[in-house]
Amino acid sequence: MASVPQINSLPRDPLRDVIRVGMLGFGTVGTGAYRMLQDNREAIARKIGVPIEIVRIGIKDTEKPRIAPTELFTTDLKAIVYDPNVDVIIELIGGLDPAGDLIEQALRNGKHVVTANKELIAKRGAKLVELAAKNRLDLHFEAAVGGGIPLIQPLKHQLAGNDVIRLMGIVNGTTNVILTKMSQEGAEFEDALAEAQAKGYAEADPTSDVDGFDAQYKIAILASIAFGKEISPDAVYREGIRKITKKDIAYADVLGYTIKLLGIAEAKDDGILARVHPTFLPKDHPLASVNGVYNAVWIQGDFVGDVMLSGRGAGSDPTGSAVVGDLIDVCRNIRIGGAGNAIPYEPGAKTLSIDENVTRFYFRAIVSDKPKVLGTIAMTLGDHDVSLAAMEMRVLDPSKNLGEIVFLTHPCKEANFRKALAALPPTGVVEEVASWMRVEGASLVVEATRAE
Ligand SMILES: NC(=O)c1ccc[n+]([C@@H]2O[C@H](COP(=O)([O-])OP(=O)(O)OC[C@H]3O[C@@H](n4cnc5c(N)ncnc54)[C@H](OP(=O)(O)O)[C@@H]3O)[C@@H](O)[C@H]2O)c1
Repeated sequence: MASVPQINSLPRDPLRDVIRVGMLGFGTVGTGAYRMLQDNREAIARKIGVPIEIVRIGIKDTEKPRIAPTELFTTDLKAIVYDPNVDVIIELIGGLDPAGDLIEQALRNGKHVVTANKELIAKRGAKLVELAAKNRLDLHFEAAVGGGIPLIQPLKHQLAGNDVIRLMGIVNGTTNVILTKMSQEGAEFEDALAEAQAKGYAEADPTSDVDGFDAQYKIAILASIAFGKEISPDAVYREGIRKITKKDIAYADVLGYTIKLLGIAEAKDDGILARVHPTFLPKDHPLASVNGVYNAVWIQGDFVGDVMLSGRGAGSDPTGSAVVGDLIDVCRNIRIGGAGNAIPYEPGAKTLSIDENVTRFYFRAIVSDKPKVLGTIAMTLGDHDVSLAAMEMRVLDPSKNLGEIVFLTHPCKEANFRKALAALPPTGVVEEVASWMRVEGASLVVEATRAE
């Protein structure tokens, strides 16, 4: 490996001429981080005051071609964690174990840790952060949410004086690629997914992305940081995008909305409501124009007002950039002899059920095309405190006397809306509620044209 030039002009800690790093995992993110450390090594060394040296890299498969010198690689990951020459561990394996075990051992062994592991941080982050804080070590995980977008550090530092009222974001690139394709080209979900898989934007098994698990982990992490309280992923309501059809996307369009998979976390009077689900978003909302591989999070703080952070939410280079940013932060801290700045979350957050959600709803019903249908639907909804705000109707199949109506409701409690839907199909009026979704935005957007 090429040696980093000496930087004599900067003040130097005589005990520390170099900071030694052990990497666990060298896949997509690991190689991105390594490449950045190599390509920008002089500038990075200047910013820290001493160079960074990658001293060992743990992997599984010794036969794979690698972009780092062969002698750095080992399959003995424990040896890296226990190596007395290693100051910082970067964990880029993913999953709960062995990653979780190794991070815990590293922290118990006096090593600072940087990780991109969203599942681990979402599920066990509170314990690991507490362990880091107890041992006066850093545990950074900027890359776990939003790839290259700075989100966690701004929430922990620049925005820390605010009470966060609400955060809302597009935090999964795969689903955003699929929904963008469906919106812009009128594709159905299965076709858009197949294309995303062919282009490498979706995994062969897309469950984690399209069913919302990935976004659920990320919203659990963001909510925990934003509200300073541990929010388990199990407390984040989750729905994916499989059920979205091009018909719903077309109706959203004519009504003035676009459909996005949003993660939303908000502080209500009696607790925190966190959720991930497809949402009708007004076309003029800042998040509505975040398309394709881009991610963005929109944060409302009591003093700062609205802040939106956006960028590439995944991929080797953007995620590698976030890992290296965390590493530089850790190295600066080591250089000045500072204690770690892990900020433990408080336990015992009160979280709310999705039933407590208050929002507008969209629903699409297949109905018998006959008198009193509208009145019957409005009465049934009204019995559950749900009132209609807008509708669009068209004849579906004249031979069967079927019509299709889409409705937007006024804001109402989700529990009431669900009860109203369950009570809807009195035989001969509503044949089927074909789909329904939550609608974002306090005021109604209704554009006047008709869906094709
Ligand atoms: N990819 C992204 O765009 C992205 C974005 C944000 C966050 N992340 C997170 O970053 C982390 C890494 O993701 P990635 O995409 O880089 O994964 P990846 O490409 O699958 O790489 C995983 C690496 O870990 C090694 N590994 C896995 N299990 C191991 C074991 N039991 N023992 C030793 N080595 C093991 C693999 O070794 P071999 O090379 O020998 O197979 C590989 O080098 C995950 O937590 C992921 O959620 C990824």
